[in-house]
Amino acid sequence: MKKKLVAIALCSAFAFSMTACGASDDAAADKSAAETENNTEEGSAEASTEQEASADDDGILTMGTNAAFPPYEYYDGDTIVGIDPEIAALIADELGMELEIIDMDFSSIVTSVQTGKIDIGMAGMTVDPDRLENVNFSDSYATGVQVIIVPEDSDIASVDDLEGKLIGTQEGTTGAQYCMDQYGNDAVIAYTNGATAVQALQQGKVDCVVIDQQPAIAFVDANEGLKILETEYAVEDYAIAVAKENTDLLDKINAALAKFTEDGSIQAILDKYIVAE
Ligand code: ARG
Repeated sequence: MKKKLVAIALCSAFAFSMTACGASDDAAADKSAAETENNTEEGSAEASTEQEASADDDGILTMGTNAAFPPYEYYDGDTIVGIDPEIAALIADELGMELEIIDMDFSSIVTSVQTGKIDIGMAGMTVDPDRLENVNFSDSYATGVQVIIVPEDSDIASVDDLEGKLIGTQEGTTGAQYCMDQYGNDAVIAYTNGATAVQALQQGKVDCVVIDQQPAIAFVDANEGLKILETEYAVEDYAIAVAKENTDLLDKINAALAKFTEDGSIQAILDKYIVAE
């Protein structure tokens, strides 16, 4: 009962903040445009110094995320909350560091980790071979599943009906990649984030949205006329991305994750946000 109440509070908070998401997206885009400009001015030699400096003696653990992905990360008013911020806060505390969260496009997170702009990428991010070429991943702290959201009256009944349909996805995600691999680039529209993909579905611009299961549940609860198909598209591991050279930080994160798995803190956070079906 209590769990159900938490879920309702969560969904209505999310429904409320969905319109605000567009605005914060623009702000984030402006910010990253400004930063790109800075980098160009300073030249690439500076960038590598910055990369070494990110091994973090400043006491701040900078986490890059994309906060349109409830219940892993989303806005509650001006604050980014959810499973990832809570687990990251535990880790930062264990490391004696202060957590700073930066909202950015999901597709910028891996590069930002690589260049040392952020210390960790934590965004319901799936461990995948392409990303592993560029960053390391911590041990996994959660499992994700790709699912399909369709309008309630859709003729798409399973994954077998996706051929010839227009599929909405979140840019730079595994879901987008699977769909492009399977149905071709023309069949897939990649939106900046999950919220905008679901908006496009409601406006009839795409026939379905392929996205991770937990955000799908939150989006469907917050929006009329949508449902999730039973078919589970792919099962994935979520983990924290860390720069290849930052092995010391990776070891400390893994030790913290092991401790908080062992003492049940991570499970408690997952249970707080994810309601058993
Ligand atoms: N799990 C998927 C991936 O890693 C989607 C993650 C999207 N996360 C987000 N915070 N928008 O590609």
